[in-house]
Amino acid sequence: MLVPMAVACCVKLPGLRCALLLSVLSVLCFLSHASDTIVPDQPLRDGESLISAGGIFELGFFSPGKSSNRYVGIWYHNFSTNTVLWVANRQNPVKDTTGVLAIAADGNLVILDDGNSSLWSSNASTASSDSVLRLTDDGNLVLNNSGSVAWQSFDYPTDTYMPGMKVGLDLRTKVSQKLTSWASEDDPAPGNFSLSMDPRESTQIFMWEGTKPRWRSGRWNGQVFIGIQGMVAQYIYGFKLNNFVQEQKMYFYYDAFNSSHRYVLTWYGIERHMIWKNDTNDWYQYWAQPITPCEVYNQCGKNAACTDSASPICSCLHGFVPASSEEWDGGNWSSGCVRRTALGCRMNNSSGDGGGDGFQTLQGVKLPDISDWNTDVGADSSECQDRCLRNCSCTAYAVVTGIGCLIWGVDLLDIQVFSIGGNDLFLRLASSELDDNKKNTAVLIVTVVLAVILSLGLIFLLWKCRRRIRNLFRRPINEEGLSMFSSGGGSRDRSGSVRVNYESNDESLSELQLWSFDFVQSATKSFSDSNLVGEGGFGPVYKGLLPEGQEIAVKRLSRSSGQGIEEFKNEVVLISKLQHRNLVRLLGCCIHEQERILIYEYMPNKSLDAFLYDQTKKNLLDWTTRCNIIEGIARGLLYLHRDSRLRIIHRDLKASNILLDEEMNPKISDFGMARIFGNDDNETNTQRVVGTFGYMAPEYAMQGLFSVKSDVYSFGVLLLEILSGKRNSTYHHPELGINLIALAWKLWNEDRVMEFVDPVLAQPCTSKQLVRCINVGLLCVQDRPIDRPSMASVVVMLESETSVPALPRQPTFTTDRTFSETDSSTIDLKAMSVNDSITMLTGR
Ligand SMILES: *[C@@H]1O[C@H](CO)[C@@H](O)[C@H](O)[C@H]1NC(C)=O
Ligand SMILES: *[C@@H]1O[C@H](CO)[C@@H](O)[C@H](O)[C@H]1NC(C)=O
Ligand SMILES: *[C@@H]1O[C@H](CO)[C@@H](O)[C@H](O)[C@H]1NC(C)=O
Ligand SMILES: *[C@@H]1O[C@H](CO)[C@@H](O)[C@H](O)[C@H]1NC(C)=O
Ligand SMILES: *[C@@H]1O[C@H](CO)[C@@H](O)[C@H](O)[C@H]1NC(C)=O
Ligand SMILES: *[C@@H]1O[C@H](CO)[C@@H](O)[C@H](O)[C@H]1NC(C)=O
Ligand SMILES: *[C@@H]1O[C@H](CO)[C@@H](O)[C@H](O)[C@H]1NC(C)=O
Ligand SMILES: *[C@@H]1O[C@H](CO)[C@@H](O)[C@H](O)[C@H]1NC(C)=O
Ligand SMILES: *[C@@H]1O[C@H](CO)[C@@H](O)[C@H](O)[C@H]1NC(C)=O
Ligand SMILES: *[C@@H]1O[C@H](CO)[C@@H](O)[C@H](O)[C@H]1NC(C)=O
Ligand SMILES: *[C@@H]1O[C@H](CO)[C@@H](O)[C@H](O)[C@H]1NC(C)=O
Repeated sequence: MLVPMAVACCVKLPGLRCALLLSVLSVLCFLSHASDTIVPDQPLRDGESLISAGGIFELGFFSPGKSSNRYVGIWYHNFSTNTVLWVANRQNPVKDTTGVLAIAADGNLVILDDGNSSLWSSNASTASSDSVLRLTDDGNLVLNNSGSVAWQSFDYPTDTYMPGMKVGLDLRTKVSQKLTSWASEDDPAPGNFSLSMDPRESTQIFMWEGTKPRWRSGRWNGQVFIGIQGMVAQYIYGFKLNNFVQEQKMYFYYDAFNSSHRYVLTWYGIERHMIWKNDTNDWYQYWAQPITPCEVYNQCGKNAACTDSASPICSCLHGFVPASSEEWDGGNWSSGCVRRTALGCRMNNSSGDGGGDGFQTLQGVKLPDISDWNTDVGADSSECQDRCLRNCSCTAYAVVTGIGCLIWGVDLLDIQVFSIGGNDLFLRLASSELDDNKKNTAVLIVTVVLAVILSLGLIFLLWKCRRRIRNLFRRPINEEGLSMFSSGGGSRDRSGSVRVNYESNDESLSELQLWSFDFVQSATKSFSDSNLVGEGGFGPVYKGLLPEGQEIAVKRLSRSSGQGIEEFKNEVVLISKLQHRNLVRLLGCCIHEQERILIYEYMPNKSLDAFLYDQTKKNLLDWTTRCNIIEGIARGLLYLHRDSRLRIIHRDLKASNILLDEEMNPKISDFGMARIFGNDDNETNTQRVVGTFGYMAPEYAMQGLFSVKSDVYSFGVLLLEILSGKRNSTYHHPELGINLIALAWKLWNEDRVMEFVDPVLAQPCTSKQLVRCINVGLLCVQDRPIDRPSMASVVVMLESETSVPALPRQPTFTTDRTFSETDSSTIDLKAMSVNDSITMLTGR
C-alpha cells in the first residue's frame, strides 16, 4: 500500500530528502506488512496480508463461503474472485479475528489465538530461531531458517496443484504426498477425495474417495497420460516426470504454464483444470475429470468395457459373460464378467506354446489398471505377444510407444472405450472363442439379411392394406361417439359410468367419455366466476362438483380447435388413454355447438408456480419435495416422449402447467394440446409457434423447429426455476444484468452453486445433489438440441448416485449479447407478454 506512495513522493521531491522519506516509509510499510516477508517479533495479524514481490499472490486470514471461521490462506492478489489455493490451519480455525501468524521462539511458523495458544504449527525441525518467512511469486510460502529451507507450503498441498509444485511418492519411505479436497464449499478441512501417485509405483495419478480409487490417469508415456481421452501431445501441458530412479522419489510437476493455471480437486470429487481468462476476467474450465460415467474407476467391474455412447454403457469383453447375469441385467455391474471358456493353456497344462490360445484386439481403449510384470521399452508387438503366450497367467498384452510391452496377468479392471485415441489391447482367448467369433460374424450377416427381407415384405403388406388398417382404428370410436352425440342431443344425463370405467384398467378404456353440456354446466354452476380456478394458455379452467361429490377440473377451450368433431374426439380418446402417475388424468370431453370442453381430475393444490413464487408457501417446498417434483416431471415427460403410444411433445412445459396433488406429487397438465389443436406432431417444422417466453428452446422460438429436445430445454428451465425459486422469464440479475440461465452457468462454473439455489434449500447436506441437479439443468438448456440429453438420460442422471453427468457448455442463446444479434423474430419474442402462453407466426 505504502510503497506506491513513496514512489510518488520520489517523483516530486528531489534528492536526499526523498531517499530519507522513502526509507521511513519502507519501515512503516514493513510494519504494516505490505511486504512479502515475516520475521520474528513481527507477526501478521488478522486483516493484514503478505503480498508476493511481483504482486501475484497474497497471504492472509480469510473466511470461506458462509463460514465465519478464520483461516490463514494464500490466494491470487489480483483476481477479483477469491480463489484460495492453500490453507494452513485447515482443521483448526480461529473462531474470531484475533488470530496472528507468527514465527515462534523455535523458528517455526505458528498460528496463535488471543490466548497465545498454538492452533497450527509448521512443525519443522529448525536449527535456530532465526527464521524468515517469504511468500514467493510461485505462490509458495517458504520458511528460511538460517539459510536453508526448513519448511515450504508446496510440500504440504491442500486441494490445488500449482505450477512448480511436486506431488509425489518417496520410493524409500513409501510416504505419499496427497492433494486433499475441502470437506465442503465452506469448510477447508480435509474432505473425502484425494489425489496422489499410484502407491504401487506405476506412473499413474489416482484420485481416491476415501481409500477407494475413483479415477486414474493411466500411465505416463513421456508426453501424456494415456488414460486421459483427448490428451494429445501437440498441446503443451507442461507435465514432467522426474528421474525417479535417481532421486528415489516419483513425482510429476508442471511448469510451462504461468501462474494463472491451476488444478483443483473440488469437494465433490472432480479434478478441474482452470485457466484465468483475461477477456472475461474469470476462471475458465479447460478440462475436468471424472465427468462421464465411464471415466469413473472400474464403472463396469472386472473384464468389462465401458462405452459412454452405448446403452447400457457396460458390456463384457469378448469371450466373457456376466458373473451374475441377474445383477448385470438389473444394471448392477459391480461383479463384472468372467471368462466363458478356460484358456487352452490351462486345459492342456501346457506352458510352452500357449495351448492354442489366440488374441482378440480391442481397439482404442483406456488400458486396464496395472498388473504389469515387465515393461520393456523397445519390445515390438510379436515379442510381446510371445512373452504373453509363454506365461500361462498372461491374460492380455499391449505395446505402447514410450512405455513398451505391458502384460496383464489378473482380471482386467477399468477399461474405457474412447471415442478418439486410446490404445489397442490384445485380449487372450481360448481358440474356441476365436472360432466362435468367426461363426458369430456369419450368423450376424445372415440375420441382418433375413431381417431386411422380412421388413421389406412387411412394409409392402402394410402399404397394400393401409386403407383397411386406418378404417380398423377409426370405426369403433366414430360409431360410438356419433351415436352418443346424436341421441343425447346435449341433454343426456350422465351416470356413474365414468368412475367405474376409470377404476378399471387402461385397456378397457376404449370408449370415449362424452359428457353432456348441461351436466358440465350444472357441475360448474354455469361456469360461474366463483368456480374459476385458473386461466390456462388454452382457456379458462373451472372447478366442478359432481353429484357424487367428486371434484373435477373443466377446461373450456377458448379457440376453435380448427378440427371437425370426429377428429377432435379421436384426439381426446387417444390422449385420455395416456395414463401415468405424473400426468393429469383426462376424464372426458364435451362438445356443444362451438364449445369444446375437456374434463380432468381436480388437483387441490393447484399449480407449482403458486408455491414456488410465493414467499411464504415456498417454504413448504423443501429439498425432498422439490427433488420429488423434479423427478416426477422428468418421468412424466419421459412417458410422453418415449413410453406412451403417441410420442407426444408437450411444447408448453412450464411451472403453471405442473399441478400438485395432495401429497405434492407433480402432474403435468395440458399435454397433447398440440394434437387437439390440429398441429401435426409428425412434422418437425411448424408455422405456429406455441409456447411460453422463457421456456422456449432457441431453435423452436426462432425457426419453429421442434422435437423432444425442445421439451428437454423447457424442462431444464423449469428445473433451474425450481431450484432457484425464481422465474426465468422475469429474472434479471440487478448487477450482472444476466438472466437466470446465465446466472446458473456463471455460479456453477465458479463452484458457487449454493448461491444460486433458493435459500430455503441451502443446507450443506444437499449440496452434492444440488450440484448434480444444476448440472443436469444446464445440460438441458444447451444451445444445440443435439447437446441436450434425452429425457431417458435425464431420469438416469437425476436418480442415480453413481452416474456422473457430462459437463455442460456455456448456453449462449440466453445472454443478451447473442439475443441482439439474432433476427427480428426474436425481437418480437422479447416484446411478448412474459407470463402467458403465446401463439405467433414465425418470421419465415
Ligand atoms: C495487478 O493489478 C495491477 C493494477 O490493476 C496491475 O498494475 C499489475 O500489473 C497486476 N499484476 C499482475 C501480476 O497481474
Ligand atoms: C500473548 O503474548 C504477548 C507477547 O508475547 C503478550 O503481550 C500477551 O500478554 C500475551 N497474551 C496472553 C493472553 O497471554
Ligand atoms: C504439529 O505437531 C503437533 C504435535 O505433534 C500435532 O498435533 C499437529 O497436528 C502438527 N501440525 C501439523 C500442521 O502437522
Ligand atoms: C535464506 O536466507 C538467506 C539470508 O537471507 C539467503 O542468503 C538464502 O539465499 C535464503 N535461502 C533460501 C533457500 O531462500
Ligand atoms: C463424505 O463421506 C461421508 C461418509 O461416507 C458422507 O456422509 C459425505 O456426504 C461425503 N461428503 C461428500 C462431499 O461427498
Ligand atoms: C508465460 O507468460 C510469459 C509472459 O507473460 C510468456 O512470455 C510465456 O510464454 C508464458 N508461458 C506460457 C507457457 O504460456
Ligand atoms: C492479460 O492482461 C494483461 C494486463 O491487462 C496483458 O498485459 C496481457 O497481454 C493479457 N494477456 C492476454 C493473453 O490477453
Ligand atoms: C450390486 O451387487 C453387489 C453384490 O454383487 C451388492 O453388494 C451391491 O449392494 C449391489 N448394488 C446395488 C446398488 O444393488
Ligand atoms: C490343447 O492344445 C491344442 C494345441 O496345442 C489345442 O488344439 C486344443 O484345443 C487344446 N485343448 C483344449 C481342451 O483347449
Ligand atoms: C492339468 O493339471 C491338473 C492339476 O494341475 C490336473 O488335475 C488335470 O488333470 C491336468 N489336465 C490334463 C489334461 O493333463
Ligand atoms: C508368469 O508370470 C508370473 C507373474 O509375474 C510369474 O510369477 C511366473 O513365474 C511367470 N511364469 C513363467 C513361466 O514365466
